[in-house]
Amino acid sequence: MISLADAVGAARARYVAANPASSARYTDALAVLPGGNTRTVLFHEPFPLGIVRGEGCVIWDADGHAYVDLLGEYTAGLFGHSDPVIRAAVVEALENGVTLSGHPMAEARFAAAVADRFPSMELLRFTNSGTEANLMALATATVATGRRRVLVFEGAYHGGVLSFPAGYDPKSGGVNVPHEWVVAEYNNAERARDAIRGAGDELAAVLVEPMLGSGGCIPADPDFLAVLRAETERAGAVLIFDEVMTSRLAPGGRQAALGIRPDLTTLGKYVGGGMSFGAFGGRRDLMARYDPRRPDALAHAGTFNNNVLTMSAGLAALTRVLTPAALAALNDRGERLRAELNRVFAGLPARATGLGSLLTVHFTDRPLRTGADVALGDPLRKELFFFDLLHRGFHLARRGMVALSLPVGDDECTRFVEAVADFVDERRHLISR
Ligand SMILES: Cc1ncc(COP(=O)(O)O)c(C=O)c1O
Repeated sequence: MISLADAVGAARARYVAANPASSARYTDALAVLPGGNTRTVLFHEPFPLGIVRGEGCVIWDADGHAYVDLLGEYTAGLFGHSDPVIRAAVVEALENGVTLSGHPMAEARFAAAVADRFPSMELLRFTNSGTEANLMALATATVATGRRRVLVFEGAYHGGVLSFPAGYDPKSGGVNVPHEWVVAEYNNAERARDAIRGAGDELAAVLVEPMLGSGGCIPADPDFLAVLRAETERAGAVLIFDEVMTSRLAPGGRQAALGIRPDLTTLGKYVGGGMSFGAFGGRRDLMARYDPRRPDALAHAGTFNNNVLTMSAGLAALTRVLTPAALAALNDRGERLRAELNRVFAGLPARATGLGSLLTVHFTDRPLRTGADVALGDPLRKELFFFDLLHRGFHLARRGMVALSLPVGDDECTRFVEAVADFVDERRHLISR
């Protein structure tokens, strides 16, 4: 019987043979981009696909294969590839000119739409990415408190320079920005309480994802988040919810679903209608520090913070496409999909975790509550799953993540579940213990 390593080797070889144009694109890219790459998350061996086009929930690669795009640009592609309302808004913006050297008319209206949806964001400012939004939220917290320490959680991803994979050692630094990081275990309320009390009056902020997103779609226990809320309040520290991914889990984000009001919230991804986007906002007293009329105003710059394409696309997306009803339907579809996948995986060391329209497939039978739990999953089985599903016409993240977009319908979900069942039938001996 073929071994797991040989099956993965054969799947890779089949992939190489099927994708000569993607391979050639990759070779060209190697000449000017280190590893042919400008976005680490997209890299996988032997080379990633070159994508030429997308429409609805389908993408086509450089060799002409069509895939159902279940990755949804790591949650930013919630609207699919060609939403007509967003497209019309972008075309109209282009017709009126870009880089206008001033305030586009959509800017404040878009901000109002964001604040309307996320009421804890009493005042907010735009950035170009979720990373920048988190950088600014942390800067706000350190300036407002006059403190330097920041509590984060193992397995969290808050951006390219704010990444805390399992085993992260704050002393090593890596490319992370040099805050005084304290890293605690996710979903461990008791240790978080100890860490917050231990840091005492040196703690500026707690930064937390209400579900570990990149870290494997591991939802936070409501009690864990409630303890963070109570303890930061007691410590005079700023509680920052990074809802870059989780804001799409409910109208008002996971904070609204759980009834927990953070001091600051960061957003990114889909909120800009598919354009570059980030925002940070929250308590009026904190955000008012950026009011340029104040003599002691904090500066917050960024040439493209209010770029006309994002402002127009985001406004159309939030007010005319992503109605609360559309969002609820998307998340219900995700709940059904995850339940069906878990029926297919029953009895195997495999499972889909997550909430609503976001899920990750893991190959383990351990409980999955922390970044360390996720890190113990089997990477080879994940790789086999990735290549086998790609071969069957479904594009998901190499790490097993699925983020449904609005154009993904029941038909695509049914076909995906059938494809996963087919994978399980074919590979059962390789994915069982
Ligand atoms: C929870 C979370 N925060 C922040 C970011 C960073 O956002 P961006 O890639 O827009 O910088 C990401 C990106 O994956 C994310 O998942």
